[in-house]
Amino acid sequence: MTPLAAFAMQPLLLPELFPLDLRRRLSLVTRVHERVIDAFDGPLDAEILITGWGCPRIDTGVLAAAPRLRAVVHAAGSVKGHLTAAVFDRGITVSSAAEANAVPVAEFTLAMLVLAAKQTFPRARAYAAGAWSGDALPGVATPGERGGLSGSTVGVIGASRVGRLVIDRLHDHGADVLLSDPYTSGEEAAALGVRAVPLDELCRHAELVTVHAPELPETRGLLDERRLSLLRDGAVVINTARGSLIDTAALVRHCATGRIGAVLDVTDPEPLPSGHPLLGLPNVLVTPHISGARGRELRRLGEFAVAEVERLTRGRPLRGTVRPADLNRIA
Ligand SMILES: NC(=O)c1ccc[n+]([C@@H]2O[C@H](COP(=O)([O-])OP(=O)(O)OC[C@H]3O[C@@H](n4cnc5c(N)ncnc54)[C@H](O)[C@@H]3O)[C@@H](O)[C@H]2O)c1
Repeated sequence: MTPLAAFAMQPLLLPELFPLDLRRRLSLVTRVHERVIDAFDGPLDAEILITGWGCPRIDTGVLAAAPRLRAVVHAAGSVKGHLTAAVFDRGITVSSAAEANAVPVAEFTLAMLVLAAKQTFPRARAYAAGAWSGDALPGVATPGERGGLSGSTVGVIGASRVGRLVIDRLHDHGADVLLSDPYTSGEEAAALGVRAVPLDELCRHAELVTVHAPELPETRGLLDERRLSLLRDGAVVINTARGSLIDTAALVRHCATGRIGAVLDVTDPEPLPSGHPLLGLPNVLVTPHISGARGRELRRLGEFAVAEVERLTRGRPLRGTVRPADLNRIA
């Protein structure tokens, strides 16, 4: 029999994540409830819950009211915000579209790497302030000749889904990539075409450092005062992961001297209070957490989720399965 499905998310997101053609595809393999759930307030007869940002937490109470639920397909990244351990304990299949959400983050990161390799941000600000800064940039350190990504040494922290896409794109640009990731062996790193190194070594040698590890207890303050001190003069740190991975006070101190620069799509705290030093430094660009899927990029997440539901209903293996054993090392 055709399984019953329901959407649970912020209702306004539905048409962007699942435009009409995707909902039609879904209706070929499921019967989908009209109502988009934004609060669990009664019995739930769905076997498949298609969730998105804004889905309320699924705890034991919700599960007790949903005896037929057998799969949660998340049309966004991390499931940690809305799924409790009880979901996994009941053996419910969980899938996430984190792989699809990684694409825009990697694209954004690559754009920032290209621009950072030419010191674009401090040069543009110096230009706006009246200084033609095509050559030397007063007060901003430069390691050797900066001429783009080709031949540069880039440090990637985390061979995560985003990290791997960034690595692929860096190869296309002829960069030499160093990787720090305690979960990726030297052989796996070699297969990715990168050199696995301890994080301290990455900090000492990379001209550009890009952060793609998940927020976990052990990654809080990963780039702390000591590691930021190891960075080469003129290095630029790019963070599209989570703000807590960098010690903000230490980053302010290092960037304020002009010795290193930063591009931060995520910060700690987030948002930064107005007047925060990072918002005023010429060698720091702060963006308001925009690198993930937005606007027309959201459709990719819906497409991923629909394909997962199709695989699920046809008994095929899923691509985005989230295993409880991986939760302590994934975003
Ligand atoms: N700015 C945004 O809008 C946005 C959007 C999506 C994801 N993100 C963030 O990007 C980061 C990557 O997301 P993802 O979905 O690719 O992650 P992921 O779940 O694929 O990452 C898991 C992998 O990270 C690596 N890892 C774990 N601990 C590590 C450590 N201590 N040091 C280095 N590597 C480690 C391991 O290889 C692990 O398998 C996360 O921090 C996530 O929150 C941000």
